[in-house]
Amino acid sequence: MVTRTVVDLRSDTVTKPSEAMRAVMATAEVEDEVLGFDPTTHLLESEMAKVTGKEAALFVPSGTMGNLISIMVHCEIRGSEIILGHDSHIHVYENGGISTIGGVHPRTIKNNPDGTMDLRAIEAAIRQPADVVYYPTTRLICLENTHANCGGRCISVEYTDKVGELAKKHGLKLHIDGARIFNASVAMGIPVHRLVESADSVSICLSKGLGAPVGSIIVGSESFIAKARRLRKTLGGGMRQVGVLTAAAYVALRDNVSKLEDDHRKAKILADGLSQIKQLSVDTTSVESNMVFFDIIGSSAISPERLCEVLEKHGVLAMPASSTSVRLVLHYQISETDVQYALTCIKQAVHQISNGVMPKQDA
Ligand SMILES: Cc1ncc(COP(=O)(O)O)c(C=O)c1O
Repeated sequence: MVTRTVVDLRSDTVTKPSEAMRAVMATAEVEDEVLGFDPTTHLLESEMAKVTGKEAALFVPSGTMGNLISIMVHCEIRGSEIILGHDSHIHVYENGGISTIGGVHPRTIKNNPDGTMDLRAIEAAIRQPADVVYYPTTRLICLENTHANCGGRCISVEYTDKVGELAKKHGLKLHIDGARIFNASVAMGIPVHRLVESADSVSICLSKGLGAPVGSIIVGSESFIAKARRLRKTLGGGMRQVGVLTAAAYVALRDNVSKLEDDHRKAKILADGLSQIKQLSVDTTSVESNMVFFDIIGSSAISPERLCEVLEKHGVLAMPASSTSVRLVLHYQISETDVQYALTCIKQAVHQISNGVMPKQDA
C-alpha cells in the first residue's frame, strides 16, 4: 500500500496555492507584460516597492534569476568581483550562474554560524586595483536574510547598516538575497523597508513562506530596475500575460505575512521536541525563523539519508542537510498537529533504525 504523504517539511517552497489564490488567478486582468502593460503585475510591483521603501520593483520567475539579474546589473563590467558568504545560497545553490552567465568572480568570506561575515574580513577582501594588473575589481557585497544554510538565522538591521556603510566607503553596492526577508522582519519585529534601507537591491521570494506558486520580486532604484527589466528579457524571463501569476503573489503578500509568526512558533515547538530525542542534537536558541536543523549524534547507523528514507515511509518528508544533519522547514500549511505527528514519527524512526526494525509501509 502506498502511504499518503501527510507532513512535508522539506521546504517552504512546497505549499499549494490557496483557494483565494486560485480564484484570483482565474479572473486576473492581464495584458502583455513584455510590452509593459499587465495591470495586475504593476499593482504587485508598486506594492512591493512601497513595502520595501525602494523606487521600483520587478517580478521575476525565481529567486535564482532575481539574484543573477541583480548581480549582473551591479557588475556590468565582465570580470567584476563580488564578496559573499561561503555558505550563501547564491554561492552554493545557483549553479555558479554569476560566473558562467554573468562573468562575475565570487570572493567568498566565511559565514559565521549566525549568517553574518566578519566586517574586517569583508573589508580586507575588497580589491580595487589602481595599478595592480592581476586583481579583479570588487563591485558588490551580498548578504542573505534570513540565512538559509545557517538555519534561517536573522541578520540584524545594525549589522546590515554596517555592511552598507562599508560598501559606501569603498564605492561598492550592497545586494540582499532576501528570499525570506519577511520571515526576518516578522521574527525581529522590524519593518522590511528598514531592514533593507542600506541595500541597493533586494531579491524577495514570494513562493517560499508566503506561499505563492511562482515568483520573486527584485527592488531597487528606477535606473536599477530599468536595467534589470532588459536583463530579465535577455535571460528569457520576459513573461507575457503574467498577471495570472502576480495575482496569486499579491494574495500571498496580502494574506500570508501575518502567518509567518505562527510558523516560527511551530519551528520552536519542533526544535524543543527534537531536543528531547536522545540520539539527536538541536540548538534550540538558534531557531529564529521557520527552519530547524538537527544533528544526529552517537549512532553511525542513523545517517541523514537513512532517517529521511524511513521517515518517508511514515509520510513525513525531510531533507538531509549534511553528512550528519537534517533540515526541517515550517510553512503555513503545516499545523501544530502535523508538528506533533512529525515528532512522533521521528522518534519512532530513530528507534527503528537503531534497533534494525523496518517500519511497515503504511505506518
Ligand atoms: C536564500 C535563498 N535564496 C534564493 C533562493 C532561490 O529561489 P528559487 O528557488 O526561486 O530560485 C532560495 C531557494 O530556496 C533560497 O533559499
